[in-house]
Amino acid sequence: MTHILHLDASPRGDRSISRTLSKEFINQWKTTHPNDTITYRDIGHDPVPFVSEDWIAAAFTPSDQHTPELAAAIQVSNELIDEFLSADRYVFSIPMYNFSIPANFKAYLDQIVRAGRTFSVDETGYKGLVHNKKMTIIIAQGGAYPEGSPTHTYDLQTPYLKHIFGFIGITDIEFVYADSLNLGDEARNLAIANAQAALKAAIAH
Ligand SMILES: Cc1cc2nc3c(=O)[nH]c(=O)nc-3n(C[C@H](O)[C@H](O)[C@H](O)COP(=O)(O)O)c2cc1C
Repeated sequence: MTHILHLDASPRGDRSISRTLSKEFINQWKTTHPNDTITYRDIGHDPVPFVSEDWIAAAFTPSDQHTPELAAAIQVSNELIDEFLSADRYVFSIPMYNFSIPANFKAYLDQIVRAGRTFSVDETGYKGLVHNKKMTIIIAQGGAYPEGSPTHTYDLQTPYLKHIFGFIGITDIEFVYADSLNLGDEARNLAIANAQAALKAAIAH
């Protein structure tokens, strides 16, 4: 039995392509894996807070020394990390904003990428603490940045996501792109159909 964390980052509702694709994926997954369990987090509609001065102090103070203020400041991070670590598989849908991730997803990462919880650091360097997880990242993009194209280096979203999840130990990541969404109906419809086909294939493995 697999436990999935399904997360949407688009602030849009039904108009969101990334959200629509992740919903389709999860619905198909439920049909083919009826015993699996799913937790849903919608940071597009319910963003998580930015880190604060008390958050930073709490993150670097042993929890048995937390004042009530520090404990309160780090509580959301603790809950998000517990939720994240309890999943075996992640299905994250993330639009491209300004060639990178939306600010709400960065705020989420700032909450879950935490020394002692998802990575460790000592004199030998950094180590990821999150192992044996699979991740599917569905990306919606107005343009297109495929490998070998002149615009490939504009895509700072994919390398950053690979880097930050690799940093905490997650390397088994499949990226599914719905790109070209602002490049006319034909390109858009083809890209959505390709993403749907890739997601269908991902259900099988
Ligand atoms: C604030 C903002 C910034 C965007 N920046 C980019 C960008 O840099 N490159 C790109 O290809 N598309 C960009 N887009 C287009 C979105 O990636 C595209 O509309 C996508 O469908 C949004 O995801 P959603 O449909 O799930 O909401 C941007 C859209 C918004 C609203």
